[in-house]
Amino acid sequence: MSRKIVFTSGKGGVGKTTLAANIGARLSLKGEQVVLCDADVGLNNIDVVLGVEKRITYDLADVVEGRCRSRQALVQHPVFPNLYILASNHSAPDKYISPQSLKLVLDNLSAQFDYILIDCPAGIEEGFHRAVAAADEAVVVTTPHLSALRDADKVISVLKSYRMQSVQLIVNMVRGDLLLSGDILSPQEISQILKLPLLAVLPESDDVYKNTLSDRGKAFTFAANNLAGGKKKFYDVTKPYNGLLGRIKLGLKRGV
Ligand SMILES: Nc1ncnc2c1ncn2[C@@H]1O[C@H](COP(=O)(O)OP(=O)(O)OP(=O)(O)O)[C@@H](O)[C@H]1O
Ligand SMILES: [Mg+2]
Repeated sequence: MSRKIVFTSGKGGVGKTTLAANIGARLSLKGEQVVLCDADVGLNNIDVVLGVEKRITYDLADVVEGRCRSRQALVQHPVFPNLYILASNHSAPDKYISPQSLKLVLDNLSAQFDYILIDCPAGIEEGFHRAVAAADEAVVVTTPHLSALRDADKVISVLKSYRMQSVQLIVNMVRGDLLLSGDILSPQEISQILKLPLLAVLPESDDVYKNTLSDRGKAFTFAANNLAGGKKKFYDVTKPYNGLLGRIKLGLKRGV
């Protein structure tokens, strides 16, 4: 039986797709069999983030409408052989996919995989409910920005009406210099305010923009290991600003 985990957020663009893709890739490197399901129906892009968009033959709508079996719709990643992508409905973006049908598709795959990571659209609209209803666990992604925190709080309160086995928090795009200057809340403070256990801390990094899968940084590995269980380790975003060179870097950032 797989763990079905939805990556969700209130605010858009906080990193759900990037995190689901990278954490999924790292779990697969640990030998886990992983499905990444793009449940962001309409604005789907996990296939593009993972560079498999040209390999898609079937998608979610094809499975739901019986044109193929769920296993047939999975695209095996060329670099990460244990990672499989289930694309959202490319063939018919306007097609309605019910929460029940998404859940059925994922339940059918459950026996053959260790993890099914579900990439959810932002907000608490229909697409959110469809993705969340198919999951047993949730990861709420936020950035330290106030607007993202306020929206995360809304999502967390809606998640309470679902019987999730666990709901955890990832704080993404944390800038070490702003943390040191006290301009943003720390991930630990955010976890206390939102009353969710912290799963991972990810730095804001230009590498993520360049190529999500080329950045094999510790932060994603910690996130994947923490999700898999065991003692949690958190990436220290202030590390680049330690020592003499670090302090110079910090001074330059502050324009001292
Ligand atoms: N830690 C990070 N540092 C720098 N850029 C990042 C980081 N995480 C994500 N990004 C970038 O931010 C943008 C939004 O990320 P992403 O698409 O993963 O967010 P999302 O929550 O899935 O958005 P949406 O709500 O639109 O689905 C992307 O360009 C991505 O490369
Ligand atoms: Mg996304």
